[in-house]
Amino acid sequence: MEILNPPPAAGDYAGFCAMITGYRQLAVVMAAVDCGIIDALTDSPCTLEALLEITGMKAREGERFVRQLAGSGLIEERDGVLRLSPFAATYLSRESELCQRGVLAFERQLQRRWETLGDQLTAGQGSVVEEHPPEVYRERLGLFHRAMHEAAAVRSRELWDALGTVSPTGFVIDAGAGDGTYLKSFLGRYPGWRALACDLGDVLTVVTGPGEDDAVTLCPCNLLDPAERREVAGRYRGTADLLLLSNFIHCYDRYEVVAMLADLGELVARDGRVVIHDFFTDGNPFGALYDLHMLVNTYNGRTYTLAETAGMLSGAGFGVCRSLALPSLSHALVACRA
Ligand SMILES: C[S@@+](CC[C@H](N)C(=O)[O-])C[C@H]1O[C@@H](n2cnc3c(N)ncnc32)[C@H](O)[C@@H]1O
Repeated sequence: MEILNPPPAAGDYAGFCAMITGYRQLAVVMAAVDCGIIDALTDSPCTLEALLEITGMKAREGERFVRQLAGSGLIEERDGVLRLSPFAATYLSRESELCQRGVLAFERQLQRRWETLGDQLTAGQGSVVEEHPPEVYRERLGLFHRAMHEAAAVRSRELWDALGTVSPTGFVIDAGAGDGTYLKSFLGRYPGWRALACDLGDVLTVVTGPGEDDAVTLCPCNLLDPAERREVAGRYRGTADLLLLSNFIHCYDRYEVVAMLADLGELVARDGRVVIHDFFTDGNPFGALYDLHMLVNTYNGRTYTLAETAGMLSGAGFGVCRSLALPSLSHALVACRA
């Protein structure tokens, strides 16, 4: 079995403590947002006294909390004035274009599901089903898409940076495009390209996105449905210079991915490329843990190893030509016709 990190030594009690208290750091970030510290310091740097006044924190507790935030690098103090650190300003300030507050809110929901991990190990993936009234379901779906969008704002830049320069014109198809953030960021770099955003109909209509843009055609389709999928494959056969599947294959079991890749591969032009961007079981410890995120939160999602993914691409007629490790721990496999 793959071991991704050097295993902790028998006497590594510091490692043990860090392993079992990871949830505390998340609680600190959530409280910093919830009690208004991040918003207050986004509005303007201020003294501790002013911050206590704005947030309503008690003096002694607030001071201890602020000291902790400074220690963990979320805020900085200079000459008695507190301000957000560049790190917190980037990811937590509501004014930042890379703000991840939706990701944080979504993680809050996931946390409860993680507590069912043990049950799902014995009863099987998908056994802990939560029924929600429609309005709660809609709210959770909205949160999911907001989180997807925020993460994509960061990760799409990393992906296109790593892929390097492409030809000035072409056609890109994004299967499982979500709100089209990857496509928008791609077209921002390569305005001569046209794009097709393929996703479930209600995702493409509910989420405001690429529909406003003439360069992007919307393609509502349930890619799991063979008939719908083949209709799209027939309509756009051989047209894609680039076919992207970003965080899509981890939604499904191997036999489903194999079936979808067989048809989606037909979309790709003779000298076109497929890019599978995802988290991989053996990519790094974050990818390995992502597999359990899928186990806990989906009925049959999972991550794959890089070799398993290359094998599935090979079954669809593609050979991996590049494997790119991205800064925020995802990977991209770039494949051409074998
Ligand atoms: C995890 S999100 C990834 C979104 C985006 N590609 C990204 O990397 O951020 C998976 C996307 O695949 C879409 N999707 C899942 N199953 C699908 C299916 N059967 N047919 C079409 N789209 C699907 C979801 O609606 C969602 O937008």
